Amino acid sequence: MKKTYEIAVIPGDGTGSEVVAEGLKVLETTAAKCDFGYHFTTYDIGGEHYLATGETISDQVLESLAEKDAIFLGAIGHPEVQPGILEKGILLKTRFALDQYINLRPVKLYEGVYTPLKDKLPEHIDFVVVRENTEGIYAGAGGFLKRGTADEIATQESINTRKGVERCIRYSFEYCQTRNKAKKLTLCAKTNVLTYASDLWERTFYEVAEEYPDIETDYAHIDALCMWMVKNPEWFDVIVTDNMFGDIITDLGAMIQGGMGIAAGANINPESVSMFEPIGGSAPKYTGQQKINPIAAISAAQLMLETIGEKKAASFIEAGVAKVLREDIKDVAAGKMGYTTREVGDLVVKYIEENC
Ligand code: IPM
Ligand code: MN
Repeated sequence: MKKTYEIAVIPGDGTGSEVVAEGLKVLETTAAKCDFGYHFTTYDIGGEHYLATGETISDQVLESLAEKDAIFLGAIGHPEVQPGILEKGILLKTRFALDQYINLRPVKLYEGVYTPLKDKLPEHIDFVVVRENTEGIYAGAGGFLKRGTADEIATQESINTRKGVERCIRYSFEYCQTRNKAKKLTLCAKTNVLTYASDLWERTFYEVAEEYPDIETDYAHIDALCMWMVKNPEWFDVIVTDNMFGDIITDLGAMIQGGMGIAAGANINPESVSMFEPIGGSAPKYTGQQKINPIAAISAAQLMLETIGEKKAASFIEAGVAKVLREDIKDVAAGKMGYTTREVGDLVVKYIEENC
């Protein structure tokens, strides 16, 4: 009997539903080709839902998500909701509740895509950032004393557990092995200043490294790494780092691979259910206009299939995406593609049907 995947779909806010539709359409095409089934359950979660009900994400919904094979997320973010509420209440809550401790973000320049880095070609920009996704400054430890007074104190602590750091580093070594490119893992931290947190990361990194003698290890401070990402991105194969540093360098990564319209990410719990998303946000001003590039969402669907074990289907999607970027899309930015959101999805579907 063919395998059927239960997939939770969260279109979310703004242009989320437009790009999600294209991701799902492409997924359906590969399912037919590769002979697997799927069943989608759509969840009404996001800014609109919050404004209407006061609810971010309920325990009941989280329990239901936990039972799926994967979660496909469009975008969360609403201009009328105060910053922090939806981010913490939905996105971070889901990552934490489902213990999605890996945030995997490929940074790959496809042929035909403009990079702001002078003289850099697709062969120079092809690496993956593994960002720890449940700890660090994001853990929410800290608080205020005497808030609103002249003597106010605010603290925000970075939480780094041996267990959390080790599982992230171990995943990175394993991932580097299966990626099978340069077989080089770079630890990104700040050992010259964060002499507790980065020290734990560094000790753990070199201890775990002993189990992976085929992987070359490297280290860069976060500030220097930003510099090298711009100057010599070809030095990187896989980078592992903490939550905050990872958040920052993956936006930098998205820019050097061509822009937010094509950057995808995976929130992975290797032992349970993972969540896949385009990382560009809800772009509310473009809502309903069919101007947003769906490639990020389509690549998120590719990451989803790769992670749940449909590697062939994932490679079909990548081939379709590469062809569209090489031959059709003029500019990856919203409104400048020369095609509508739906047309780009249709082209990817067509290429998969013709060539795979
Ligand atoms: C991301 C986003 C989120 C993060 C925000 C929206 C909470 O920037 O996925 O990178 O900081 O992790
Ligand atoms: Mn971010």
